[in-house]
Amino acid sequence: MNSKQVVLITGSSTGFGRMFADTLARKGHTVFATMRDPGGRNAKNASEIRSLAEKDSLPIYVLELDVTDDASVGRAVDAAVAKAGRIDVAINNAGYVVSGLAEAVTPEQAQRLMDTNFLGSVRVNRAVLPHMRRQRSGVLIHVSSGAGRVILPSFGFYCASKFALEALAESYRYELAGQGIESVILEPGAYETPVFGNTVTAADEARTNTYGAVKEIPAKLNAALSSNAGNAQEVADAVLRIIETPAGEKQLRYFVSPQDLGVDKINALSKQVQANVLEAFGLTADTKFLKGKAVGSA
Ligand SMILES: NC(=O)c1ccc[n+]([C@@H]2O[C@H](COP(=O)([O-])OP(=O)(O)OC[C@H]3O[C@@H](n4cnc5c(N)ncnc54)[C@H](OP(=O)(O)O)[C@@H]3O)[C@@H](O)[C@H]2O)c1
Repeated sequence: MNSKQVVLITGSSTGFGRMFADTLARKGHTVFATMRDPGGRNAKNASEIRSLAEKDSLPIYVLELDVTDDASVGRAVDAAVAKAGRIDVAINNAGYVVSGLAEAVTPEQAQRLMDTNFLGSVRVNRAVLPHMRRQRSGVLIHVSSGAGRVILPSFGFYCASKFALEALAESYRYELAGQGIESVILEPGAYETPVFGNTVTAADEARTNTYGAVKEIPAKLNAALSSNAGNAQEVADAVLRIIETPAGEKQLRYFVSPQDLGVDKINALSKQVQANVLEAFGLTADTKFLKGKAVGSA
């Protein structure tokens, strides 16, 4: 793989996605910074990114991509491949938080959250994988969260969406390794981005109001998370290190956090248990990354 890579990022209008675009492009990687509605609601964000790219001669191209819309995902991936000829890295970053007591989150709110945080990656991966398979290389990065490994009360549906994403990302890891494609999970702790302002609140206030003191948990947690939030550039630097790690040597999980919450311990134990499980079912050889020997290669 060329050391300068072609990277498609979802949710690049603000926050991590926008920082990833800037950080990677400054190191010479070609970036497709995708977002919803760059001609409308995100017009200011899109034009700031385009102006910066022009001013600093950065290889960043803004494309429209709504992860909840198959056709939109397909158009963005086709446009990126038409322009750059390939996609080396897809960063599944688009996502948001639903905060509130689980009983007060409506099924419609839960469904919308899963459609973005979980199915969004399914759509993007299905669109980029045929290209990666053709190249016999590629990296799928899934922006999960520390909340994809530990559970916070009032973040139940957000945690569920990230746990679901982690399960799928790990499954891709095993299934794609033989084809030279890596699946990676990034688990940020709390970082300063617009995520807190974009949080959706559980809609059923009548139910929330029956919970006494427990109904204060969402506000308490949100305050604790935002007051301990770190500098998001740390996460962008981690993404740069991940994509510049040679093929076949990337970890499955990267926990990056201003606070040590012990998530690395869960990941280390999970790695051991998963290895045992694959061994027990006779799947170890099938799920190994084969350097330079992708499935179907001569
Ligand atoms: N900041 C943290 O502390 C933290 C910690 C762990 C994990 N994360 C994860 O990091 C990711 C990025 O969040 P952030 O912190 O950078 O917050 P953010 O600034 O709110 O960014 C979220 C991005 O997702 C986009 N998005 C939402 N729905 C979308 C859709 N249907 N299609 C395409 N894009 C969509 C938003 O775009 P619009 O502008 O169109 O709304 C925005 O660009 C999320 O997956 C979040 O769960 C954040």
